[in-house]
Amino acid sequence: MSASYRAIDWNRQKRLYDLTLGGLLALGLGLFIGVSLLASPNVTAETLIIRGCSVSALLLLHVILCIGPLARLDPRFLPLLYNRRHLGVTMFLLALVHGGFAIVQFHALGNENPLVSVFTAYRRDYHVFADGGMNFAHFPFEPFGVAALAILFLMAATSHDFWLRNLGAAFWKAMHLGVYAAYGLLLVHVALGALQSERSAAYPVLLALGFVIVAGLHLAAAHQEGRTDRARAAAEQDGFESVCGAIEVAEGRGKVVVAASQRMALFRHQGRIFATSNVCRHQGGPLGEGRIIDGCITCPWHGWNYQPEDGCSPPPFKEVVATYDTRIIDGRVWVRTTANPLETKCSGSPVPAVTTAPGPPQRLGSE
Ligand code: HEM
Ligand code: FES
Repeated sequence: MSASYRAIDWNRQKRLYDLTLGGLLALGLGLFIGVSLLASPNVTAETLIIRGCSVSALLLLHVILCIGPLARLDPRFLPLLYNRRHLGVTMFLLALVHGGFAIVQFHALGNENPLVSVFTAYRRDYHVFADGGMNFAHFPFEPFGVAALAILFLMAATSHDFWLRNLGAAFWKAMHLGVYAAYGLLLVHVALGALQSERSAAYPVLLALGFVIVAGLHLAAAHQEGRTDRARAAAEQDGFESVCGAIEVAEGRGKVVVAASQRMALFRHQGRIFATSNVCRHQGGPLGEGRIIDGCITCPWHGWNYQPEDGCSPPPFKEVVATYDTRIIDGRVWVRTTANPLETKCSGSPVPAVTTAPGPPQRLGSE
């Protein structure tokens, strides 16, 4: 069996994503060059390229690292996740231009091969305990940049779905976690490199702020996932079953679901999800295919009514259908598989405001 390559399917969303990315990048680089020229008009084009590309690559890396936890914290960020690989490849290209120009600028004028010089130039004159204290001036920071660039290269080169399929999702994902190693290497590269010659406190503060934001979002997402896992475990223990996404039940509408091999009807009424038996007391009509009219579940066959809160028909009628407790966990509706005693009043489960329309199915290949 041979490995087959399929060209990328471009769609409107991807084009929009890339156009926005290109526009923001051009704006950012333009601003950076403008401000740098105003601050020091004699700055050379090489320095502008080296610094402009490095700063935008590092900024983009922070954005990339924040998208994952943001999408887990709030589904509204999911659209950013789907084409995150485009950001990764763009970031690698910027870093490549930065590294390439830096090697030419700082290592191409000596006798040594520039690629060797990147690793050996510090050998003679760097001593961490110079001048009786810790001294990071002349720290060999460039090899850290080279190592980070190598990781970013591996990730960019294998970002296409072709590699995802042929390397296997688990290996591919594990390899792409290398972005955290690259981030760590870059923190050293910048903190013990360029920042050693900076006198302004703004740069170390910005670098630390970036780290705090990235780490804080990851911790918040892990905390939220822990809470969701606990809520799921508790729901299972209490006899609930996950039946569908909350978004699948439209306001005022019903949906038939199956839990513990029995059909139930879900309704969304005034932003809350209620569950009742699916069987109408008249002639067994499918209540879940009906909808809410004047605050009552209305059977699609002959229009019998039931209140979603307690399953009772409105007075003067006396018919009652069973109700079930519901919970909403991480955007999914869970239903207790044992019915409440007849006429029990339920308050329904409020649908969180952030439960928006589901995006494309979540798979590694679309990140
Ligand atoms: C071949 C690999 C790399 C080499 C040889 C290299 C070299 C350098 C050098 C010489 C500087 C100091 C520049 C100056 O003082 O003007 C620098 C700074 C910096 N590098 Fe790298 N670097 C490499 C990879 C990377 C990568 C992958 C990133 C990722 C974003 C990066 C981000 C930065 C940043 C943010 C700075 C501080 C801003 C600046 O001065 O440009 N570097 N690098
Ligand atoms: S079956 Fe429901 S109204 Fe007749």
